[in-house]
Amino acid sequence: MKVLEVGAGCLRNSRYLEKEFRKRGWTSKIEVADISQGYAAFESDYKKFSGKVYKDSFPKIGYDIVFSTFVVESICPRRNRHYLLSCIYRALKPGGKFLVSFRGPAIVKKAKTRTRCHEGEGFWTAGKTYLRSYNIQEAKALLRRAGFKDKNIKPMRKYRTPEPEYVDIIACK
Ligand SMILES: C[S@@+](CC[C@H](N)C(=O)[O-])C[C@H]1O[C@@H](n2cnc3c(N)ncnc32)[C@H](O)[C@@H]1O
Repeated sequence: MKVLEVGAGCLRNSRYLEKEFRKRGWTSKIEVADISQGYAAFESDYKKFSGKVYKDSFPKIGYDIVFSTFVVESICPRRNRHYLLSCIYRALKPGGKFLVSFRGPAIVKKAKTRTRCHEGEGFWTAGKTYLRSYNIQEAKALLRRAGFKDKNIKPMRKYRTPEPEYVDIIACK
């Protein structure tokens, strides 16, 4: 099974997943990708995970699973977000799964915000990173735009509110 984490940052997800795979005796291969040269430079584990730092070329191999947590909603402008998601869709094998977590409205409301970003959405935070929230419907619409069919996009849990703190979705190609 081929697995790719997009926007792996300090590798907390991939490290955890690797441990869990090992416990179960699975031989799945996890790769990681990020656009930040900084992480790859100080994380020696990027080598272990065949880490890629990409600017113009996204990994194209057919993956069984791609996952990404708290990355998409930190990308500005909107067209770059759409582009990343279409690359992810293309990189999946038919039947492959994309697991994605977004910060939801309830958590973003708590963030210290400064200026409104261009294109009328999102904010620059005090830490000078961009942030916007996705509610469940917005997240689904974003994934449909990338190519996923509506019937193949499922929230990972039952939400009591349409505007939760975090939105976790699994989309199947
Ligand atoms: C908030 S961090 C989340 C890191 C990690 N996913 C986690 O949950 O701990 C966002 C990460 O996304 C990366 N990133 C931002 N834009 C990206 C893009 N277009 N493609 C891949 N990674 C991106 C950043 O460099 C950063 O490492």
